[in-house]
Amino acid sequence: MEEALIATLREQCDLTDAQYLTLLSGEECTEPLRAAADAVRREQYGTDVYLRGLIEFTNYCKNDCLYCGIRRSNPNVSRYRLTHEEILSCCEEGYGLGFRTFVLQGGEDPYFTDERICEIVSSIKKRWPDCAVTLSIGEKERASYQAYFDAGADRYLLRHETANEAHYAMLHPPELSGAYRKSCLFTLRDIGYQVGAGIMVGSPGQTLSHIVEDIRFLQELRPQMIGIGPFLSHQDTPFRDEPNGELHLTLRLLSILRLTFPQVLLPSTTALGTLHPLGRELGLKAGANVIMPNLSPMRVRKKYMLYDNKICTGDESAQCRSCTERRAAAVGYRVVTDRGDAKGFLRRQ
Ligand code: SAM
Ligand code: FES
Repeated sequence: MEEALIATLREQCDLTDAQYLTLLSGEECTEPLRAAADAVRREQYGTDVYLRGLIEFTNYCKNDCLYCGIRRSNPNVSRYRLTHEEILSCCEEGYGLGFRTFVLQGGEDPYFTDERICEIVSSIKKRWPDCAVTLSIGEKERASYQAYFDAGADRYLLRHETANEAHYAMLHPPELSGAYRKSCLFTLRDIGYQVGAGIMVGSPGQTLSHIVEDIRFLQELRPQMIGIGPFLSHQDTPFRDEPNGELHLTLRLLSILRLTFPQVLLPSTTALGTLHPLGRELGLKAGANVIMPNLSPMRVRKKYMLYDNKICTGDESAQCRSCTERRAAAVGYRVVTDRGDAKGFLRRQ
């Protein structure tokens, strides 16, 4: 039964809602699903693994998402911002280590005005024109997104978190709306960014039907990247007692996404590596083809704690880089020095 569904998904890149539910509800990470996803990944990308150097440049945030360790109402966070020069020196180190994409991620921090973000983006692009810049700084107005794009930003990561409005309301304070978040993603795509959406697997209140809604939303948006990782609880949030997302469901979903969106860029996330010591390797084997090692300065690593026990907070960037390479090689993949753009994507000038 499951094998027939996998064959249909591989052929048609789509299933009915009921069929997706059946595939998602399997108890374990089944080998046939994983093997089919890996075969598609190899057809599309061979054994290449693309790296993204993650620079967590501010942990100030005006939002209060209920799951997030750096939410504004957590008084135990020691807040920091990197300076323009510090961000550039992270890139410099990263460039030397073979990174050709820099991801600037942070809370929604009003200190970083559009002007400051544009200055940072254009300095990076000027110094390393062969690199891609990805922004992951939350919900903005169209004019801001346009200004960052005009300054040279190539990609934007904004997980939609859940496509279901009622579920969105369980995870976020009333001032945030799922509809606005989704509209931001369409705006970003319209401007010409390579866009990344995604969810946390096992977030409180999530059902498998919600995940099917997420797949439908992703089919509508057609993003170039899909970021999924398990929800992990943080001790200083209202979700402190909620269970973490499950490994096998995260891996199953990675494989289902690879089969539904053969060319998508799919990270094997730090959250997956936190959930299980070999999580990132299992993610690669399940169809993921991107890893995002940390390039943030050592002194701030432990301050960007989105969830408890986050890994890689005590390692130098060079260590993270070589550890990633070793881990990928151990399961038969190869880290490459490449921007790793989405296949067939041409930047609009
Ligand atoms: N502020 C930006 C935004 O809203 O997109 C980027 C930073 S935000 C911390 C990046 C992502 O971290 C979120 O989209 C969310 O999916 C993930 N995240 C936050 N808290 C998490 C948790 N407790 N477990 C797993 N992932 C989490
Ligand atoms: Fe803003 Fe998490 S609440 S980054």
